[in-house]
Amino acid sequence: MPLSINGQTRLIGFFGTTYKTSKMYAMYNAAIDALGLNCIYVPFAVDDLQKATDGIRHLGVAAIGITIPYKTDIMLFLDELDGDAARIGAVNVVVNKDGRLIGSNTDGIGALRALREQAEPKGREVVLLGAGGAARAIAFALADAGASLTILNRTVAKAQELAEAVGNGTRYGGVDALPQSCEILINTTSYGMANTPEVGQSLVPPSFLHPDMTVMDIVSNPRETRLLQDAAAIGCKVVYGYRMLLWQGVYKFELFTGVEPPIAIMEQAMESMR
Ligand SMILES: NC(=O)c1ccc[n+]([C@@H]2O[C@H](COP(=O)([O-])OP(=O)(O)OC[C@H]3O[C@@H](n4cnc5c(N)ncnc54)[C@H](OP(=O)(O)O)[C@@H]3O)[C@@H](O)[C@H]2O)c1
Repeated sequence: MPLSINGQTRLIGFFGTTYKTSKMYAMYNAAIDALGLNCIYVPFAVDDLQKATDGIRHLGVAAIGITIPYKTDIMLFLDELDGDAARIGAVNVVVNKDGRLIGSNTDGIGALRALREQAEPKGREVVLLGAGGAARAIAFALADAGASLTILNRTVAKAQELAEAVGNGTRYGGVDALPQSCEILINTTSYGMANTPEVGQSLVPPSFLHPDMTVMDIVSNPRETRLLQDAAAIGCKVVYGYRMLLWQGVYKFELFTGVEPPIAIMEQAMESMR
């Protein structure tokens, strides 16, 4: 459908340094188009985060997707955080409710939904590699889902801090302290990501993997990380990072617009971005 802008068009935007290269415009705008909503999803080049956030109120912008490096800093300038954003300590979506800016976080529920396409974490031994922003979101979601969690991180103090925040007997250690018992392994570190020295490498020795294990990597570029290649070769179930990208975006779209997301359309648009 051709783009049609009028005085009622609602603006949904994106704050993040990757605004020039993000591929999510196609996904959100395809969903907006399919539902015939009078909205458009556009990039914003943020210079001063506080002023940009004030701009959401003053320009009547409906909602904003937030990514690196603003997920934590933006919390200072919002009126309210929902429960998930508050305990995670990061925001990836801001909704403007009549001038009040409310921060939420869909990374945890998005990751859980992606994982559940292959494995149910309730009652399972889950190893989470990493203790950064994404790990925080995923750790709380896994604990809520009833997983038995071990958090391993290069900086052990961060793993300890997160394990204590999550509670529920969550264990912690360094990245080489892989436990004997692991049914689900999730890499939330940036290790193996494109444009880093570790691309094509994995933190997990293939000898640790076994065919009954489900292995998820939230790194979505490259789509097939070394960890997932090793896991697939051994016969593990694998969960790709782009599945989390899809689901965290589906939940964001619901918050952006207040309507049920057209999942198949969003999935199709994401596939066409490959
Ligand atoms: N698929 C999705 O929807 C989705 C969503 C969010 C994020 N992500 C991806 O997830 C990754 C992490 O994002 P984030 O926001 O959590 O980043 P972050 O807060 O900067 O955390 C980075 C994590 O990676 C670890 N790490 C970095 N380099 C390492 C290395 N060389 N060896 C071992 N550990 C290393 C860090 O360990 P230390 O604490 O020791 O530094 C930390 O645990 C990124 O690749 C991001 O693109 C994907």
